[in-house]
Amino acid sequence: MPELSRRDFLKLARDGFLYLNGALTLGGLLRFLDYNPGPAQKTAFDLGPASNYPLGSRTSLPEIPAFLIHSEKGFTALSLVCTHLGCTVASDAKGFACACHGSSYDVDGQVMHGPAVLPLRSLRIEITEDNQLILHTD
Ligand code: FES
Repeated sequence: MPELSRRDFLKLARDGFLYLNGALTLGGLLRFLDYNPGPAQKTAFDLGPASNYPLGSRTSLPEIPAFLIHSEKGFTALSLVCTHLGCTVASDAKGFACACHGSSYDVDGQVMHGPAVLPLRSLRIEITEDNQLILHTD
């Protein structure tokens, strides 16, 4: 059996490394080209007739998650996604509270207690000609 010289060994190691590098790069490229982000996330939610939400009502919409408020100012909506790290906040007597790290927000979504520093995000409400409410999360 012929003995492998140091030079031959290094050449083999280099070639092997180059082939492996090429294969990994090609695999990554194929994965990139085959990337499918899936269906777009829904950003508009039909909430039904506005008459379902009387003046003074505060309605939790956990499937969105959002909170719909009907006041003298009209309809407003807040995202229930905590602005700290994205947990879902729950409504309580003072406003909204996040169970993850203890942030709390007042009834208008303003921060009362951190670690969150930003208020809950306001969501856009559209009232159609036939008085249906559409909540937009984009
Ligand atoms: S995610 Fe709500 S306080 Fe951290």
